[in-house]
Order: sequence, then structure tokens, then C-alpha cells
Amino acid sequence: MLNWPRRLQLAQLPTPLTKLTNFSKSFSDVNIWIKHDELTGLEVSGNKVRKLEFCIAEALEQGCNTLITCGGVQSNHCRATAILGARLGLKVHLILRGERPTVPEGNLLLDYLAGAEISYLPQREWKTHPQFARELQEKYRTQNSNALFIPTGASDEIGLWGYIAATEELQADFARLKLTPEFIVVATGSGGTQGGLTLGVELFAIKSQVLAFNVSDDAAYFTAKILEDVTLWQQRYKESFDLSRLRIKTIEGYLGPGYGVAGKEVFETIRNVANSDGVFLDPVYTGKAFHGMVSELRKGANGALAGARNVVFVHTGGLFGVFPQQQNFQFD
Ligand SMILES: Cc1ncc(COP(=O)(O)O)c(C=O)c1O
Repeated sequence: MLNWPRRLQLAQLPTPLTKLTNFSKSFSDVNIWIKHDELTGLEVSGNKVRKLEFCIAEALEQGCNTLITCGGVQSNHCRATAILGARLGLKVHLILRGERPTVPEGNLLLDYLAGAEISYLPQREWKTHPQFARELQEKYRTQNSNALFIPTGASDEIGLWGYIAATEELQADFARLKLTPEFIVVATGSGGTQGGLTLGVELFAIKSQVLAFNVSDDAAYFTAKILEDVTLWQQRYKESFDLSRLRIKTIEGYLGPGYGVAGKEVFETIRNVANSDGVFLDPVYTGKAFHGMVSELRKGANGALAGARNVVFVHTGGLFGVFPQQQNFQFD
């Protein structure tokens, strides 16, 4: 029995788990399945909504009327938070990494439309953002407001519950479809989705190996981050869990030029999957991870997915991040 904390119902759940029928035909012996977490909503969509169900519940429990969070200018997490704030009557203050663009596009446009207050911190000062967030909290306190700071991507011991719960949902999907996938694949950026799934498969005794493809940082970073978050989760929620059971696996090699910047192979993959099955990936997260997964599958017995017959790719959303990169798609 887990000590579940309070949770809001913000995501459209359960999301479908369906076979990627046409694309899977390019493999003779592997079926790719998609867990459609891009369908947790329309404007409020993707993986972040599952985490925010727990983080915003915590904010309300603490009597907060303001949410402060942070991320890149095109952060999907910040967009989801901004819109949920508008829906729930909470003020949202975003700290975004970089300069203010002359014209807001994609996620940033939605942030502004939803009425979020936005502060920009240049890249060179980004490491000071936790301090900046504390100063903002203090400023709100002097105005008789109470602000919760949700860290990047809602990846902390509270947000971890989002993908623990998603793993329980996957367990029900697998039972219904009589599916025993060897691998569950996901993009990892701030680590909370990978962490929740990696912990979740142990908690719900699912044999599948969670494989994460990093779109920032490296494998060592994600191992340390997940161990830290799970340790804090144990302490905060009084859960006993043996950390040595965690099978943390991050596959490097598909980050490309860097976070948010993809090579042409990723744009080709996005186009191929849209074309074959009408499923849309994004160049920052899901496109890179899907490209990595397919490249490893093509290596067969020498790849990270050796022995795969059924693979579940968790589609974590990100569609609004496609539009600011439209110039990178090649059409004949
Ligand atoms: C679309 C999308 N996919 C995947 C991720 C990675 O999830 P996490 O930050 O939990 O590692 C993010 C957020 O960073 C995202 O916005």
C-alpha cells in the first residue's frame, strides 16, 4: 500500500495505449506501442499534467495562491502550469531561460495568452534561478501572497507521483491488452518522468525495463537525480523502498547538437511518423527519443533494445514546440 498524497484531477485519464500499426511494419518482429500522454488534454497536455496534479494539490494544501516555476522559453511544463493557473484561479510567475523574443511563438504565446507573469534570466545567469525564485517568493510574501516554487519540469519528490500513477495505469493497460512489453521508452529532460516510471515498475511488479533517451545532460546526471528524488520521496511520504531495486537506464548518443537543437534525422523521423500513422512528435523531446529508439532497434542484438518484441513508447507531448522550429523541416 502506498501513502498517496492529495491529488487534483487535471489530466484526461486514462490515456490510450495503441499500436503504431504502420510504422511497426518496418520491423519484421517488433511491435511499437504508443502510450498517448500527448492526449492528457489539448492546451494542458503532455507528461507535465500528471505531475502537476500532485504539485498543485500540494500548493493548495499549503494555502498558496501563486505558482512560480521555470524552464526554457519553449517549456511545455511552463505552458501547462500557466494554463492550469488560469483555470484554477492561481497567479503564475514563470522564470524563463534566455532573452525575451520579439514575437512570442509556440508555448510562449500560450503563456502570455493565459496571463502568466514572465521574468527572463539570461543563460549565463541561469544557475542563480533558485535564488531568483526564493526572492520572488519573498516578494509575494510581502504582498500577503503565498507562492509555491515548482522546480524545472515539476521533477521533485512530489511530481514523482505523476508517473508512479501512470505506471499503475500502464499495468491495467498491459493486463487488458495481454501485453508484456520488454521495454518502456521515454524522453528524459528533467528526470521526473523517467524517475516515476523507473520506480513505478518496481512498485507494481512490472518486468519491463524503462529506457530513457536523454535530451539534455548525461546518464550519470539522471542516475543521480533519480536517486535523489526517490530518497526525498521516501523521506517525505514515509515509504520504505530499497533503492538498489531501481533499474535506472539512460541511453546516450541521441542528444545531437544540444538541448532543443536537433539534427536533420530527427526532423525526418518526425515527418515519417506523422506520415505513416498521423502521430506527431516534437524536435526537443519525443522526436529525439523516438529516433534513438528506432536507431537502437535497427541494431538488433547489438542495440539497447536487444530482444524486443513489444516496446511501449510513452508519448509525452510537446506539439507546440514544433511550430517555432518549422523552418527545419524539408519538403520536396
Ligand atoms: C514533451 C516532453 N517530453 C518529455 C519531457 C521530459 O520529461 P522530464 O522533464 O520529466 O524528464 C518533457 C519535459 O521536460 C516534455 O515537455
